[in-house]
Amino acid sequence: MKKPFTLGFIGCGDIAVDLARVVAMTPGVKIGACADINAARLESFSRRFGVRASHGDGRELMDREKVDALYICVPHYLHYPLVAEALDRGRHVLCEKPLAITMEQAAGLCETARAKGLKLAVNYQYRYDRRAHALIMLCREGLLGEISHCRVNMPWRRGPEYFEGGPWRARKAEAGGGTLLTQASHWIDIALEAMGSAPAAATGMTARRRFTDVEVEDLGMGMVELENGALLGISAAMTVNPHQKVKIEVYGERGTAIYTGPDDFPPASKLKLLGVKKKRYSMPFPGLFSLQRNLIGFARWVRDDAPYHNGAERSLPTLATVLTLYRSAESGRKEAVEKRLSE
Ligand SMILES: NC(=O)c1ccc[n+]([C@@H]2O[C@H](COP(=O)([O-])OP(=O)(O)OC[C@H]3O[C@@H](n4cnc5c(N)ncnc54)[C@H](O)[C@@H]3O)[C@@H](O)[C@H]2O)c1
Repeated sequence: MKKPFTLGFIGCGDIAVDLARVVAMTPGVKIGACADINAARLESFSRRFGVRASHGDGRELMDREKVDALYICVPHYLHYPLVAEALDRGRHVLCEKPLAITMEQAAGLCETARAKGLKLAVNYQYRYDRRAHALIMLCREGLLGEISHCRVNMPWRRGPEYFEGGPWRARKAEAGGGTLLTQASHWIDIALEAMGSAPAAATGMTARRRFTDVEVEDLGMGMVELENGALLGISAAMTVNPHQKVKIEVYGERGTAIYTGPDDFPPASKLKLLGVKKKRYSMPFPGLFSLQRNLIGFARWVRDDAPYHNGAERSLPTLATVLTLYRSAESGRKEAVEKRLSE
């Protein structure tokens, strides 16, 4: 039997706890070590998930622990320095989204990983949402005909505890942005993959409607022009009433696809097709929901070089789009999307 695939968690906050629960229900994957600068969180995490090797500093974990890969799940502005150090030490990395808060940093990390032959992934797990995967596949196979436009609507409420529990989320220099970057980027990523063309220019507007004492937007809207001329409309809000679903509508000349989701705990996404017949697409590997499938996919990619959808380079168009929406919101003009690396 193969040895378990071991991860070193750097950051033991909210998403780390979610992923640790997923690891606990995934045979063949284990947490080998963990690190957090917050002693109380570190202690509670290591006790709850039975992780013996715990460190008060991520670099110490990197130097001392033999794990198969690192999972970096710290505030956004720390992704770049920690991923850079991990790559320097020859480590494979699964980084939480976004890979970094500037294109220069993100592209630089991708270049380093490529040059060193290391696996660097970004946790856009909804690419492994069963229906989001089907949406991407059917659009890419041309089932809808030529796609003219797409609308992404992401109404995910956040209460005051969201900023109280992680004050970095409210600070522009540490978070890089608000609802467009932190939440909607998951769905912009799916929409761009489905539409199959690179972003060329964007017009954005941001607002602070409910959380007026934070530096980042709680409402963001935008329009993106793709290189093939198709348009992508985005609305993202944390200001709304709770328990609403994300909706992605893709309009083609022959048919329309309407996704609602996501496929979280419990898995509950749907895909409706209008004008064309449904087609089934199977997932490349097992798992109950997207976070688990993405984890299994990452482990197989690192171990066996199996095909995987979340290599970091594929997250660059999404980051470039969101950063362009922010630039446009500031300038009040349509802005060109910055091109880097293999986008
Ligand atoms: N993929 C998803 O669905 C999803 C969901 C939620 C959050 N996230 C992402 O996960 C990341 C973390 O978000 P969160 O909500 O868990 O934040 P959080 O504030 O709950 O946790 C961050 C943790 O990092 C620790 N930390 C800070 N600096 C550190 C350092 N130098 N070394 C080690 N630990 C350090 C903090 O003490 C804290 O425990 C962000 O990138 C966020 O966007 C992803």
